[in-house]
Amino acid sequence: MARDGAVYACQVCGAVQSKWAGQCPACNAWNSLVEEAHSAPPGAMAPVKAGRPPRGGGLAFETLEQITPAAPRIATGVAEFDRVCGGGVVPGSAILLGGDPGVGKSTLLLQVVASAALRGASCAYISGEEAIEQVRGRAHRMGLALAPVKLAAETSLRAIVDGLKRDAFDLVVIDSIQTMWSDAHEAGPGSVTQVRAAAGELVRLAKRRGVAVILVGHVTKDGAIAGPRVVEHMVDAVLSFEGERGYPFRILRGAKNRFGATDEIGVFEMGDSGLREVSNPSALFLDTSGERAAGAAVFAGIEGSRPVLVEFQALVAPSAYGTPRRAVVGWDSGRLAMVLAVLEARCGLNFGDRDVYLNVAGGLRITEPAADLAAAAALASSALDQALPQDCVVFGEISLSGDVRAVSRMEGRLKEAAKLGFRRALAPLGAESAGLATAGVQRLGDAVRRIADGAWPEA
Ligand code: TYD
Ligand code: MG
Repeated sequence: MARDGAVYACQVCGAVQSKWAGQCPACNAWNSLVEEAHSAPPGAMAPVKAGRPPRGGGLAFETLEQITPAAPRIATGVAEFDRVCGGGVVPGSAILLGGDPGVGKSTLLLQVVASAALRGASCAYISGEEAIEQVRGRAHRMGLALAPVKLAAETSLRAIVDGLKRDAFDLVVIDSIQTMWSDAHEAGPGSVTQVRAAAGELVRLAKRRGVAVILVGHVTKDGAIAGPRVVEHMVDAVLSFEGERGYPFRILRGAKNRFGATDEIGVFEMGDSGLREVSNPSALFLDTSGERAAGAAVFAGIEGSRPVLVEFQALVAPSAYGTPRRAVVGWDSGRLAMVLAVLEARCGLNFGDRDVYLNVAGGLRITEPAADLAAAAALASSALDQALPQDCVVFGEISLSGDVRAVSRMEGRLKEAAKLGFRRALAPLGAESAGLATAGVQRLGDAVRRIADGAWPEA
């Protein structure tokens, strides 16, 4: 039974319970409830006494018509980072940067503050995870030793807030929010209570003093930012930093942004001296040398405002087991099942006794439905052992009925492909652009027949 004044907070989802239980009733996580001292839940308001008007003359209403000037921005000079933020960081805003441990969050943010500081912004980097010498050593290796960044190693929230009040900073990095602790709460560092309290305090400080604050948050294996899931709604922007194990490429994505779009990606390459910005990702994800093997199809995709070409690679092989394997990297496994079902039901291909592997080259994760036709072309090409032409790109959405549907920005996709030397396209009917010969298809069956017969328009 709950003792007086005690509540139990789930360390995974943040839900608060009045009784302890072995399993969180909200998210079903086991052994995640931890006792915490009771405090008013966020958003709880003191009851208003009837008959007394609010102090200060009440609300001042404004009109929708008024034009507010666009939020000013601090461009950090790391262009891939600035673009994902919507053109730089907004003073007084709070950003959460999430990612797996070791993906390169500290490296990225050290480069961001160093670059911003060299451009005249007043920047601080506060590490709760590494000693000053470690951060400094890394900065030296990355050639950033001369950037006028103020460095501190601290985990006490009180010390940090006091320190930040003394100087007028433009941009502050807190690495990481899970290591911060407030002496106003009893719970241990990294607990939901501490993370919530620390983030709340830092976000308030950002707003009050007009400082842009970037909080680093480690992600747990199920993809949720540990503890900091409760932080996501407090901050103005949530960015995630991702990378496939074994690949040097890192992708920065926006998951929420009050000051910009969330579909932009930033592409980096991890090297010996830190992260290198990749301004032309197509060249990176694409191998343009040599023949394209059977099972490969180049997808002309759009990530945010940029076209990105990337290769889908499929392998369809006889299965040695009763239940054939389906393995996919970089694409949705549900979508793969759907495309396989349509290929079987509408195009006469059989995958029932065959293993299917599908891989997006370079470690990029594709979410656009426009990739359906590229995946289907790679699968059909492998199943039929017929390579697509070396100079052909593919895009289009597939419906359950086997129709190939038009997708957004078809001309932009074709133009990017032409720029990179492609001369042919397998695409929905109506997709056209100068310089490319398009095989327009209305049904998935038409596309499969073209691959089987090797019937392509003259380039
Ligand atoms: P780090 O920024 O510490 O990751 P995070 O803060 O997300 O936990 O990055 C650590 C990894 O990056 C580590 O495995 C080493 C690698 N790395 C390089 O390959 N080159 C470099 O120049 C740096 C600084 C790190
Ligand atoms: Mg780190």
